[in-house]
Amino acid sequence: MKNKCIVVGVTAGIAAYKICQLVSSLKKQGNEVHVIMTKEAEKFVTPLTFQTLSNQKVITDMFTVDYTPDVHHISLAKKADLFVVAPATANIIAKIAHGLADDMLTTTFLASTCPKLIVPAMNTNMLNNPITQDNIATCQKYGIHIMCSGAGYLACGDVGAGRLPEPEEIEDAIAALVETDRYLNGRHVVITAGATQEEIDPVRYITNHSTGKMGYALAKEARNAGARVTLISGKTNLPKPYGVDVVSVTSAADMAKSVIDNFEKADVLIMSAAVADYTPIEKAEQKIKKTDGDLSIALKRTQDILLTIGQKKREDQIVIGFAMETENLLENAAKKLQEKNANYIIANSIREPGAGFGVDTNIVKIISPTSVEDLGLLSKDETAKEILRHCLKK
Ligand code: CTP
Repeated sequence: MKNKCIVVGVTAGIAAYKICQLVSSLKKQGNEVHVIMTKEAEKFVTPLTFQTLSNQKVITDMFTVDYTPDVHHISLAKKADLFVVAPATANIIAKIAHGLADDMLTTTFLASTCPKLIVPAMNTNMLNNPITQDNIATCQKYGIHIMCSGAGYLACGDVGAGRLPEPEEIEDAIAALVETDRYLNGRHVVITAGATQEEIDPVRYITNHSTGKMGYALAKEARNAGARVTLISGKTNLPKPYGVDVVSVTSAADMAKSVIDNFEKADVLIMSAAVADYTPIEKAEQKIKKTDGDLSIALKRTQDILLTIGQKKREDQIVIGFAMETENLLENAAKKLQEKNANYIIANSIREPGAGFGVDTNIVKIISPTSVEDLGLLSKDETAKEILRHCLKK
């Protein structure tokens, strides 16, 4: 996301300090960021901090706008590609819900026609109060997006809902809502991500090094392009992408069931998960105690999900698989394309520096029955964008 005009409304919550990181990150990516603060918010973070981070004058008072000749709240409202209020107190949500416009933040918000996002952050009881819940529902009724607040330790000492999501999560929601090329509008894309875990006993399991980064990047890109996205995810530390249905699974068998259940109604399936090929024949009920000598664990094959789907896919459905190889990349990938009846295979070699597990970059080749497209070294986000454009933008 770059070259967008983002207006950030900051209200008087202790979590206002987290918004410094959000403003900094949005600016670094090449966006124009304007911060509007309520009077009380200035008690938590100084306007100078936001001014320095955004490189724009911070607006706090409607009547001291001496630096532009136009009516500033109207010109900013017209220019904005997205207006986010974070942290949003119960008070600002109540004012917005009822159309009050008594300061720079609320007047600009009311005058804006761009997508709007409110990120509530407050004490759990204040959030759960039916009055606040009604106000949130009213905002939603008017088309304002609400980002669910995270549960966790709150500054007041309580533990519960009401915590401001992390800046990266808010940024992800902004990326989802800001107007962009929605070439996947109306399409349902199912994506698998991460590693499966095959239980040996209640303590141990077999897994692999996949972190899910590539699959999550694909899910976000498909969402940004307007698709309805179902992300079937193995265990990962990554935050749930905004506006994506996440189905959490553990084993290859769970993943197979979920993919098969979701595929019928999907337009596209992208199998980026690193699915275990083998699982223990017996899962021990109790922890396996060590004895002298070696231990062998008998394994059986898991279902090959991509192969199963390839056999049942309809003409109008597109199936994209991955191939992670350590040798003979193109031959092995072409074999998988044919055997699994996929439309595309995304091939990568973990031998190449900058590709594979855990890192933020990848080096992939997109293989179809008639072509090989080499994307070269890109960030995983860029790789995801290029894969989707190449395979799905017609
Ligand atoms: N895959 C799958 N079900 C499995 C194993 C893999 O659907 N049980 C999918 C992966 O998600 C990927 C593709 O098949 O899209 C290729 O996976 P990969 O691990 O590269 O190859 P395998 O088919 O498992 O073959 P091999 O391990 O022999 O390379």
